[in-house]
Amino acid sequence: MTNLVIISGSSRKESSNLKLARILESCCNAGGAQATHIELESYPMPIYSGDLEDAEGLPSSVKALQAALQDADGIIFTCPEYNGFMTPLLLNAIDWCTRSETASLSLSAFAGKSVFVASASPGPGGGSRAGTHLKSLLMGIGCHVSPQALVIAGSYGAFDENGEFIDSTIQQRAAVQIDQFITFTKKLKSA
Ligand SMILES: Cc1cc2nc3c(=O)[nH]c(=O)nc-3n(C[C@H](O)[C@H](O)[C@H](O)COP(=O)(O)O)c2cc1C
Repeated sequence: MTNLVIISGSSRKESSNLKLARILESCCNAGGAQATHIELESYPMPIYSGDLEDAEGLPSSVKALQAALQDADGIIFTCPEYNGFMTPLLLNAIDWCTRSETASLSLSAFAGKSVFVASASPGPGGGSRAGTHLKSLLMGIGCHVSPQALVIAGSYGAFDENGEFIDSTIQQRAAVQIDQFITFTKKLKSA
């Protein structure tokens, strides 16, 4: 079984990216993978500080998030764009998860995993600028980045009251891309 984790870069109650994460979770399960949606709101953590790390070590929420990522074969990110970049919520969580108990770099939560980046933002670019930065970051910490990208522009009008895509062609595109990502992940796992 292919184990996937889905993380959203927004924890806002009405977040488009949380809706997107839930849709992609369904696509993963329909595609035969085991997907777990991790909500960062359940892992509250301070802004990364080297002094805090030296004094107190890793926060328990960081250890819990690292543990949740550890057994995943692949990770799917859904992230909005803030000023052309990923959200501080997501960046901070990634930064903490690249740290170890000995206050040094540890990439074991990420290295060797496949990753898929999706974004939903109200602007015409749909968060693609943030997605580019996120992909670059993930490559730098040893992830195998899927060349696919799911970009939802005009996100405020993209979902119905049940959190489903209004445009069925976007739903079809999401399903196809997730199927391809599952194949990509399986190939990496067996390589
Ligand atoms: C500080 C800040 C910067 C933003 N910059 C952009 C941007 O560069 N491009 C864009 O499309 N939307 C931008 N937005 C709008 C967010 O993408 C929008 O609020 C989005 O709905 C947040 O994602 P969510 O619905 O998943 O919470 C920005 C919002 C904030 C708060």
